[in-house]
Amino acid sequence: MKQDIQNIEDIRLLVDTFYGRIQEDVTIGPIFNNKIQNWDTHLEKMYRFWQTILLNEHTYNGSPFPVHMPLPIKKDDFLHWVSIWQNTVDSLFSGKVADEAKWRGEKMAEMFSSKMEYFKSNNLKFPM
Ligand code: HEM
Repeated sequence: MKQDIQNIEDIRLLVDTFYGRIQEDVTIGPIFNNKIQNWDTHLEKMYRFWQTILLNEHTYNGSPFPVHMPLPIKKDDFLHWVSIWQNTVDSLFSGKVADEAKWRGEKMAEMFSSKMEYFKSNNLKFPM
């Protein structure tokens, strides 16, 4: 029986496993690998991001949307991101927080995707 996500060690395991899979992924791996110079720094940031959302321990205070705007991410890439994210969560954890992780990842991907489409199709720069 898998355990739920309970502490920062669980968050680190989740994030490390997810980005391990992302880096190997032939479709969206290159978008990350081309942009990220220092994976340790990115992973540290992502531990704080998910710690804030899932454990309610407020260690992240960035704004993630703008960094994605200039990246060449299509709608299908976001869908693919969600499937890797949800499979990773399921492979490691089970429970309420794990369900929330899957749901939050999906909702944020949808939000980034539709916001990016809106800005691009209206030829808008971010921030306006
Ligand atoms: C295919 C989809 C995605 C790609 C290719 C992608 C790529 C990236 C890259 C390259 C960075 C580093 C940017 C930089 O340092 O300039 C980044 C940062 C980040 N991403 Fe994504 N991302 C994707 C989806 C998502 C989703 C769905 C979420 C939220 C659930 C997310 C959350 C974040 C956060 C929190 C950061 C750190 C932002 C900061 O600097 O504070 N990403 N992403």
